[in-house]
Amino acid sequence: MTYAQSADVIEQLMSQLFDMSALAPMPQHGASAETVLGELAQRKAHDPDFHSNHLFGLVYQTERAELERVVAQANEMYLWGNALNIVKFPNLTRLEFEVVAMVGDLLHLPQGGGGTMTSGGTESILMSMLVNRERAKARGVDKPQILAPYSAHPAYAKAAKLLEMEYATFALDGDYRADVGAARAAVTPRTAVIVANAMSFPYSSIDPIPELAALAMEHGIGCHVDACIGGFVLPFLERLGYDVPPWDFRVPGVTEISADVHKYGYASKGSSVILHRDSDWVAHQFFMFGDWPSGLYGTPAVPGARPATTMATAWAVLKHLGIDGYVELTRQAMETTTKIRAAIEAIPDLYIVGKPIGTTLAFGSNTVDIHQVGDVLSDKGWHLDRNVEPPSLHMMVSPGHRLVVDQFLADLNEAVVQGTLSFRGA
Ligand SMILES: Cc1ncc(COP(=O)(O)O)c(C=O)c1O
Repeated sequence: MTYAQSADVIEQLMSQLFDMSALAPMPQHGASAETVLGELAQRKAHDPDFHSNHLFGLVYQTERAELERVVAQANEMYLWGNALNIVKFPNLTRLEFEVVAMVGDLLHLPQGGGGTMTSGGTESILMSMLVNRERAKARGVDKPQILAPYSAHPAYAKAAKLLEMEYATFALDGDYRADVGAARAAVTPRTAVIVANAMSFPYSSIDPIPELAALAMEHGIGCHVDACIGGFVLPFLERLGYDVPPWDFRVPGVTEISADVHKYGYASKGSSVILHRDSDWVAHQFFMFGDWPSGLYGTPAVPGARPATTMATAWAVLKHLGIDGYVELTRQAMETTTKIRAAIEAIPDLYIVGKPIGTTLAFGSNTVDIHQVGDVLSDKGWHLDRNVEPPSLHMMVSPGHRLVVDQFLADLNEAVVQGTLSFRGA
């Protein structure tokens, strides 16, 4: 399927979703467990196979059977819990605190810091922007602004929309990192928070975080580091001896960090952590309400009912892997990334975009239509995301890709040859 065709498919799907009359109503009589589960299995067969290791995004394969057993059993064990009521399920709250403490320790959260778990990177970012908005409002700022590099994830724009904040971006430098001069020029009296990436989604770049955090401190505002990807990569790259620029709470002025356990933390979907340098600020995340017939109601983030599975799974994965396990998985993913990068650099028609750090990268071309190369790879069963600026293909490399990397590189070489032929009109 070509890139243009996938856009058509999305449009078609959307129109079907909005056409409720075309969808089956609830059956009058229930079907047997076998029938229902059989149909689900049939439907699932049309989804990409996680264990094929053909996806370079969305999911993070380790090909570690023991880890997958831990994830599956932790999910099953906690299937029916609800972390909404901490009095009824105090053990879940304890698991959540322990996850926050473990991730806090990893990212050098100082004494006095705090945080919560959320359902994912977007919710962690939303909670951080809420806290930064409240802090700005307390200083008398009327419509607080989020100031982010152009490479920031759309979750910041979404947060701005939901929280009625202004969203402004500043330019990147020649290596696709945040341009500090541009950030300095863009700060206004309404800026509540400066965003910095570690690593950015499109380019896998780490922004100049010490400089951006210093700028934030100069203005007495927040500096949120988006480590949704990097939070479970960079600490282990550092331990492996790679040169990792400063990015975590060791940098003065960094006020919040988001880190996703459901990305390179290798937990199943639904878990992220938002950390605040000062635990007093966590209170701004909380919603408390008592003016209704059932008394006091409080939540730490967006949802009311919260699945216990995400907390139990995140906890179990962190405990199961430990620092050594993550270091080993990061080593595997990094070795595969290095192999892919070297192979791309050896293909004259391709170039690596910017100066990626870690296990994700993008590559473009000045001589072939790179999205067409992506289409050929799609036909061969590989899933790579597309960047549009510059046109490039985007890869998030997981430890499991070590098993298929040679086949991928052979297919990439072929796809480039096909792309070259069609680009030259042959
Ligand atoms: C850098 C970055 N931040 C935030 C997010 C949002 O995370 P989620 O999709 O878990 O909400 C992503 C998702 O890919 C990301 O790459």
